[in-house]
Amino acid sequence: MRYFTLALGVLAFTAHAEDISVKSPDGDLVLTFSDENELAEYSLTFKGKKLIDASKLGFTFEQAQPMYRDFSVKEVSRDKHNDSWEQPWGEQRIIENTYNELAVEFTHTDDAQRKFVVRARVFDDGIGFRYEVPGSGQRNITRELTQFHLTNPDAATAYWIPGQGRERYEYLYRETPLQDVDLAHTPFTVKYEDGTHLAIHEAALVDYAGMSLQRQDGGRLEANLSPRADGTLVHKEGSFTTPWRTITVGEQAVDLINSYISLNLNEPNKLGEVDWINPGKYVGIWWGMHIGKYTWGSGDKHGATTERTKQYMDFAAKYGFDGVLVEGWNKGWDGNWIENSQLFSFTESYPDFDVKAVTDYGKKKGVKLIGHHETSGGITNYEEQMEDGFKLYQDHGVEQIKTGYVAFGQNLKRRDENDIMRYEFTDSQPVVNHFINNVSTAAKYELAINTHESVKDTGLRRTYPNWISRESARGQEYNSGVGAPNPANHIPTMSFTRMLAGPMDFTPGIFDFDYKRPEVPENDTVDFERRPMSTLTRQLAQYVVLYSPIQMAADLPENYLKHKQAFQFIQDVPTDWEKTEALQGEVGDFIVIARQEKKDRDYSGDDWYLGAVTNEEPRTVTVKLDFLKPGKKYEAQVYQDKQDTDWKDNPYAMSYETKTVTAKDSMDLYLATAGGAAVRFKALN
Ligand code: NOJ
Ligand code: CA
Repeated sequence: MRYFTLALGVLAFTAHAEDISVKSPDGDLVLTFSDENELAEYSLTFKGKKLIDASKLGFTFEQAQPMYRDFSVKEVSRDKHNDSWEQPWGEQRIIENTYNELAVEFTHTDDAQRKFVVRARVFDDGIGFRYEVPGSGQRNITRELTQFHLTNPDAATAYWIPGQGRERYEYLYRETPLQDVDLAHTPFTVKYEDGTHLAIHEAALVDYAGMSLQRQDGGRLEANLSPRADGTLVHKEGSFTTPWRTITVGEQAVDLINSYISLNLNEPNKLGEVDWINPGKYVGIWWGMHIGKYTWGSGDKHGATTERTKQYMDFAAKYGFDGVLVEGWNKGWDGNWIENSQLFSFTESYPDFDVKAVTDYGKKKGVKLIGHHETSGGITNYEEQMEDGFKLYQDHGVEQIKTGYVAFGQNLKRRDENDIMRYEFTDSQPVVNHFINNVSTAAKYELAINTHESVKDTGLRRTYPNWISRESARGQEYNSGVGAPNPANHIPTMSFTRMLAGPMDFTPGIFDFDYKRPEVPENDTVDFERRPMSTLTRQLAQYVVLYSPIQMAADLPENYLKHKQAFQFIQDVPTDWEKTEALQGEVGDFIVIARQEKKDRDYSGDDWYLGAVTNEEPRTVTVKLDFLKPGKKYEAQVYQDKQDTDWKDNPYAMSYETKTVTAKDSMDLYLATAGGAAVRFKALN
């Protein structure tokens, strides 16, 4: 027992023996565990200032006594770690992994059996901690008490989207005072008036429920786990561990992007040799359906025909794309496909699509078919056919499948172990497990998976490198004129929120903003409420700013040939990188990122690429080129907005010029409203 109670007249207080702390290697972050008032708690300081005030830890269960009050703390172990590891593909090849570790045990003061360990890792750029809970028998978690009690809420602005909502993670970001946050999804980003930034998220979400944050009062947030269909949160049998709860901390916004703690907290690659996983660029029979030119379902306008696929393959081969995505090739799309998930077949094609004919054709051309599995949230229907679907694709030389889970809110359909039909959230425990089952089964067939409407990314690409990309945010599809497009601040906000989680299949590269949806009369005036808020150069910048190892050129092929110079950048830009540096930016305002190309799996290229995107404010950014190799000369190929570029009236106006630069130079780039800039630095010597 570590407590003693003093009674001084009317004053009585409980003191705890000592706090137990662990510092980051550079000493700036100090994480402290305590048992003040017999509650398990932690707090965090950054450069001597309290960032997280005493915040609770613990659980309540359906069948077991709570781990809540009357706990005392004791140190279990300390460790240090300092090494680096290599990503098979990524935004950066070598990842430094340096932290100090502390494991503490919290034990119930009257019942020594009731205990849990919190293992914490403190890096220079943030912390992660997870629970390790010994025990036996079935315990259903009814509440995870983890709090994040942010200090100084009056000086804090939060950037967030709602958790557990109807649109899954496909929301526009809110920028609100911290005190106005309700239930928020993670990564959840906070900016303080003094420039300190932090982001709360989680790492290694496996066999658990996704965590949202529910604001309690002031700056106090509590973990809120996505419930299972039966209302409980997480089912566990015996001892268990939780995902890591992470807080990334920086003195400026870009520090959040330049941090890799989430990857470091995940388990190393479980798949062994992964040379069958290939980053690359692709085109697809896709945007045509989104703008109503083609249909997914059968009929006159059916997009996924053998003939059209071959045409796309011709285009891909000519301009150096690796693959052609084809959506709507399989039976199940006719009628209301969002409600009829059980009708989807993952092996039977519509009669006008021949998988053998197109893949044979692709082989001759050196272009892969990219497969598509839309489940419309029918988890059981998909799992029953998944291996057959994978086998079909593997037999035809397909390497990559895009999957989709279009079902709103708590509507993913899954038959449970007792044969009861359940309706689940995208991030409830059974669906989290489904996604891992999906990627680990795909690995057996040497297939990479790009999940749309997936659970959020928590760095599992380190463990399962075939989970090559995902959507889980509002992507380009929202610019197809069906509803309000993504506003100009969407990308500068996502860069500091969604993108902290991992790669995104945003599908950049729309070159025609004046497409006419079929329902819009021919002589109608342009509807600025619906048209993409973008200049042409902004579309190029997206390839650098929004990291993904697979990038689509999303528009119809014919639209690329209308802007040949701009198209050249898409042909040149790599999707696999040696190094990444987020250079400048402010959440929601603008972002500038530079990346060094990776030529081969273990060979760095000499070229660098830069992307910059702004919100509705036009601005000139001055970029120091000191990321370039000293002594080397580069030809800078600069794509930027012109002074008269305007997303409404003059979106295609683009300036292209080349100049010779070195690491000693700096460069001014002009970004129009909703604009951007893209630069290739081609090494000359
Ligand atoms: C939503 C996805 O995000 C989109 O890319 C896809 O085309 C449709 N679902 C149909 O699967
Ligand atoms: Ca989507």
